[in-house]
Amino acid sequence: MGFKRNILITGGAGFIGSHVVRLFVNKYADYHIVNLDKLTYAGNLANLKDIEDKPNYLFVKADICDFAKLQELMNGYHVDGIIHLAAESHVDRSIKDPFTFAQTNVMGTLALLQAAKLYWESLPEGYEGKRFYHISTDEVYGALELTHPEGVEPPFTTTASSAEHHLAYGKDFFYEDTKYNPHSPYSASKASSDHFVRAFHDTYGMPTIVTNCSNNYGPYQFPEKLIPLFINNIRHRKPLPVYGKGENVRDWLYVEDHARAIDVIFHNGRVADTYNIGGFNEWKNIDIIKVIIKTVDRLLGNPEGASLDLITYVTDRKGHDMRYAIDSTKLQKELGWEPSLQFEEGIEKTVRWYLDHQEWMDHITSGEYEKYYEEMYKNR
Ligand code: NAD
Ligand code: DAU
Repeated sequence: MGFKRNILITGGAGFIGSHVVRLFVNKYADYHIVNLDKLTYAGNLANLKDIEDKPNYLFVKADICDFAKLQELMNGYHVDGIIHLAAESHVDRSIKDPFTFAQTNVMGTLALLQAAKLYWESLPEGYEGKRFYHISTDEVYGALELTHPEGVEPPFTTTASSAEHHLAYGKDFFYEDTKYNPHSPYSASKASSDHFVRAFHDTYGMPTIVTNCSNNYGPYQFPEKLIPLFINNIRHRKPLPVYGKGENVRDWLYVEDHARAIDVIFHNGRVADTYNIGGFNEWKNIDIIKVIIKTVDRLLGNPEGASLDLITYVTDRKGHDMRYAIDSTKLQKELGWEPSLQFEEGIEKTVRWYLDHQEWMDHITSGEYEKYYEEMYKNR
């Protein structure tokens, strides 16, 4: 069957990638979706069980650093669109092993850019619709100061416009033109890959787009990240390791809303442009942790506050960025996207999903994961 578009999604077996693949496969029956993933510890084909037999879907196990394989795929599947999510994504791991992050996030992105460039240059002049869409993070912008006034209850922001936030709280956000200032090896590697993507536009005229998103939460997230880790630990009555004083602020977006934004931007975003994606939903870690505890306890039928005693303050993450806060006004105004879920609804759905999918969690948290956990948390 001839497809209208041939899209390569990298990292589609990971957390966000699996939501993007699912959305595209289900929504666009006339697109062929090739999901390229190396299946590292973070990649899991169980995340895509419901769509694996669809006629417009194909999984290919490959490494984005394998340039010959990328060329073969570009040519073999006539790829005209790339949505690039494959990456090493966990800050704590990058602090322990920065080399893997440079290899995958920088060299892998470069290999993908070059493979796309060579294939697209071989197409007839005027071939429309080519897109190299690179998924990046708000962490490349660095860190903002903690300026929430005393007595303001979480969440610190509402879904009002950013201008109103400024007036209400007199504080700063990450904008599309905020200067890059990454601090962790993870964010440095993502910043570097963003620069390569933009350089390929500026030098070779590649039709690129970059988006920078805030913290995602929702189903299928690997339990090294705060929310699934804490849900699982509460269920097993294990300590909840809060880094430092728990005062760091993150801006949380439900993962399906990120996937919807990617869909809108892939189709309607301006080439060579950048869009920030976020839900104006900032929380101090300790406050979000209390919400998680309350929700898990309620859903497990425990008395309110039963798991509060699991909170354990541990040594802070090295170079821990204090606050991230995305201004996504441009995306909202220009392309009409907005988050569909309020946080209360999103966190309820998320906790329920993890409690209802214990098998998924147990499968991941056996074997290698135990070694990781022991190693990562032993000296904290
Ligand atoms: P994840 O760690 O859950 O998934 C990453 C996927 O990439 C995995 O399936 C893994 O197997 C695959 N992968 C890793 N190295 C590879 C390689 N060399 N070749 C091919 N595949 C490889 O990550 P995630 O949280 O879903 O993040 C996806 C992307 O979104 C990343 O680029 C990340 O930087 C970005 N991002 C994440 C968040 C977040 O909150 N999770 C927020 C903003 C941006
Ligand atoms: O901002 C976007 C980024 O969000 C993405 O680019 C990254 O890929 C993603 O991992 C995420 O990075 P964070 O470092 O913000 O996420 P993490 O879940 O690791 O941590 C969230 C906050 O919780 C952070 O301030 C550190 C803290 N934390 C985390 C863990 C794992 C703890 O206090 N204890 C923990 O055990």
